[in-house]
Amino acid sequence: MSTSLSSHILSFAVTMMLFAGVEFAPQFAQGLENGVGRTPALGWNTWNQFGCNVSAALILEQARLLVSTGLAEKGYKYVNIDDCWQNHTRDSHGKLQADAKRFPDGISALSKELDAMGLLLGIYSDVGTKTCAGYPGSSGSYEIDAATFAEWGISYLKFDTCSLTAAERKDPRPAYGEMSTALNSTGRPILYSMCNWGQHKSYQWAGGMANSWRTTEDIWPQWQRVVELLEANKDLAQYARPGAFNDMDMIEVGVNGHVFNQKLLPRTKLTSREAESHFSLWALMSSPLILGLDLSQAPQWALDIVGNDEVIAMNQDAAGHQGNLVAEVKHGSILGGKCVSLGNCTHTQVWRKQLAGVQSVGVVLFNRGDDWTENSPKWQVETVQIPFSKLGFAADVSVHVRDVLEHKDLGVMTGSVALPVPPHGVRTLVLKAVGGAAYA
Ligand code: GLA
Repeated sequence: MSTSLSSHILSFAVTMMLFAGVEFAPQFAQGLENGVGRTPALGWNTWNQFGCNVSAALILEQARLLVSTGLAEKGYKYVNIDDCWQNHTRDSHGKLQADAKRFPDGISALSKELDAMGLLLGIYSDVGTKTCAGYPGSSGSYEIDAATFAEWGISYLKFDTCSLTAAERKDPRPAYGEMSTALNSTGRPILYSMCNWGQHKSYQWAGGMANSWRTTEDIWPQWQRVVELLEANKDLAQYARPGAFNDMDMIEVGVNGHVFNQKLLPRTKLTSREAESHFSLWALMSSPLILGLDLSQAPQWALDIVGNDEVIAMNQDAAGHQGNLVAEVKHGSILGGKCVSLGNCTHTQVWRKQLAGVQSVGVVLFNRGDDWTENSPKWQVETVQIPFSKLGFAADVSVHVRDVLEHKDLGVMTGSVALPVPPHGVRTLVLKAVGGAAYA
């Protein structure tokens, strides 16, 4: 595990260096009309909590828990095996094969068991010659791998970006496109989740071939990381639409440490309040919500956060818009007149997502508090205010305000809304214009 982990990190770092500075011109991206992923994917994945410790037993355990906790019924249908499920060699016909010890009955049997539970099995491969953990990649075998996945009853493919050939490093679009074509020609609806970390500005072209595409490097359960990934996605709303979404990486609610952190960084986790903010923001940004926690150890607060129907509904809104930043307050310095924290000392922010139908928006009032810590005297509840005109409503409209974290109507307001927000916390709202006034 430690060897594969370090080779994983090395190949990640090398790829990042090779990609540095490559510019890609914007392209018109068409939606991938494969019928799946019309709203962001909801599911669970092995990587963030279990790393390479994957097995059929783990998948079945977590799948059963998705059902018994009620999360499956709320829409979390994809159960995704990440890296390390493979045997180190292909079979005599060139087909990928699962590790026989960890998947003794094979992948087909597993997908059938999930199917019987009303769930869908997802799998992982890589556009290059090896996966990030060093298992066989799909390079040069796109058709046979797509056919194998379809034959096995796979419904979701996460397609990573380690070990690329020189040509693919220069331009990975043909390779990612080949897999897209190969998946579509199987005739089986398979959600295609590209994972190239936002390199080559993939958000500009991936919509034509994939249902979602990672826009950043990996997440881990640490506040600063969550905020960085949010920041990296703030100007990408124009690329999201039904069938095609920016992927901000997986959900860290309830995750204890990360596969990287366990070896290299201090073990970290989000507080329940930070986890609530992370989940609301990912929902508002129309990111896939792929859970990473161990459901057998999940605290009730974590299940409550990821099971909030109203937040899930905001994410799953049929219009498929992504949220964007509409207002922020930045604070000054904490050292020599300069902000020294990541995120430029952003203090509070307001994020807004237009919802389907008329005059309805999701709003997150966010107290980021990047510029101080829990021990600072400034660690405090802040009032976050936003005029309705900045949320797209006509100036004179009355607006019904609902708090979707508290499941409480806050009443009809005019002009603006102002609410207290705790540090690293959010107030997540759905606003609807009263009386049918149009968006300004
Ligand atoms: C990359 C991806 C991660 C995970 C690992 C598996 O780092 O970004 O999400 O799939 O590879 O090795």
